[in-house]
Amino acid sequence: MLVVSYVLCFSSFLHPLLANKELHFPRWFKFGAATSSYQIEGSWNVSDKTPSIWDHYTHTQPHRIKDHSNGDVACDSYNQYEKDIEMAEQLGLDFYRFSISWPRLLPEGYRTRISSDGRQYYDNLINGLLDRGIEPMVTLYHSDMPKIFQDLGGWANPEMAQWFADYADVVFSLFGDRVKLWITFNEPLVACDSSLQTLGVVEPFLAPYLCTKTVLMAHAKAYHNYKDNYKPMYQGISLFTRSFASLLIGLCLIRGKYLQKDKRRLLAGKVSIAHVAFYFGAETQDDAELAELYRQYNFGRFMHPIYSKSGGWPATVVELMKNISSVEGFPRSRLPPLTKHEVEFIRVKKYALILLCIYEDGARIHGYTYWSLMDNFEWLYGYTSKFGLYDVDFSDEGRKRTPRLSAQYYSYVIKSRSIDSNKWKSQMEDTNDNKKPIDDVA
Ligand SMILES: *[C@@H]1O[C@H](CO)[C@@H](O)[C@H](O)[C@H]1NC(C)=O
Ligand SMILES: *[C@@H]1O[C@H](CO)[C@@H](O)[C@H](O)[C@H]1NC(C)=O
Repeated sequence: MLVVSYVLCFSSFLHPLLANKELHFPRWFKFGAATSSYQIEGSWNVSDKTPSIWDHYTHTQPHRIKDHSNGDVACDSYNQYEKDIEMAEQLGLDFYRFSISWPRLLPEGYRTRISSDGRQYYDNLINGLLDRGIEPMVTLYHSDMPKIFQDLGGWANPEMAQWFADYADVVFSLFGDRVKLWITFNEPLVACDSSLQTLGVVEPFLAPYLCTKTVLMAHAKAYHNYKDNYKPMYQGISLFTRSFASLLIGLCLIRGKYLQKDKRRLLAGKVSIAHVAFYFGAETQDDAELAELYRQYNFGRFMHPIYSKSGGWPATVVELMKNISSVEGFPRSRLPPLTKHEVEFIRVKKYALILLCIYEDGARIHGYTYWSLMDNFEWLYGYTSKFGLYDVDFSDEGRKRTPRLSAQYYSYVIKSRSIDSNKWKSQMEDTNDNKKPIDDVA
């Protein structure tokens, strides 16, 4: 979710688009920042937690990580979550998006046993946020699958959909009274096309497509369960769709530059993960069709089944996979078919028009999530990539967090609901607020 960073970084590009508009966000617009469990929590082996695929990978193949590091301690958020809450408060966030570590909550992977320490940790975090008026937004899966499932093929195993649904049900039942905003999967494309292979399912032909289908089914099972059993009870808003929608904010930028002709398709919500889409525009008109196929392959594969009117795989991807598979000598397409029932089950029926760009289209975008609240373990890049609003001192035992200039700017944007950076600069000159590190919590 690099969406906000784009807006901040590319504000010079935004200006022409917004030339005649005020640089203001509506009051109902929500601002957040995000993290994920493996990237920040540390405490990989405390209490009854079992290893995730990333614990296993970093420990067995440390040379594959740029700085040979791992998430054993990371930002130590398992012990220092109060500092995280304090940062969220200092920024003035409306919501904080974090993920739950599946092997911390369900050490056996299956719902056979719930860890009381794991449960307590997330209870503390959620309650702490709510106490400060910050809405928790929970990602159910952000790359740290219990290792036990990788031994069974991970997301390439269709049974994963049910195991995920079981886990999601536990999470809804434990935290659903307080958490109203849910995201099922973070970047499913990464889960299926790169992580799966990197982390051990090396079969290259079917695995990515089996994974795609399994993830869609897992998402749909969790979605229906929430909608049917939890939403009525808690009056929550099921934000599976809006969570994807929040990723779409970046599309105004993309479309402005590359996708003028795709307005209709984009409104149908086939493309979703904006920060990746950003790189796949056509350079010339001759490449337009190819670029569209590429987008369908990368985004349509996940978004079309959920958000299109007809559901199912995008037709061009079906055709492409059929062609390729046939040339390769496979008797059937490598893309697994979806039955009529599956198509209906995955598709979002009460189809809400997915927003694009507030001012351009008059559509409602509900919020931004900034990645990331603080520097953290950036997967294969270890601690060498820093996206944090807060700098984290990884040589300090307390993992001291210090606000960057971007934190100050973001808190200005949130407070003023404006991206008028000139006004901000002049304000900056006479204030020292928000420049101090987060002190140790007594
Ligand atoms: C947990 O892992 C750390 C390394 O990250 C190790 O030093 C420590 O001994 C382990 N603790 C247990 C209880 O295994
Ligand atoms: C698939 O093959 C057919 C017949 O060779 C061709 O016309 C079509 O363009 C191909 N489609 C894709 C998406 O590769």
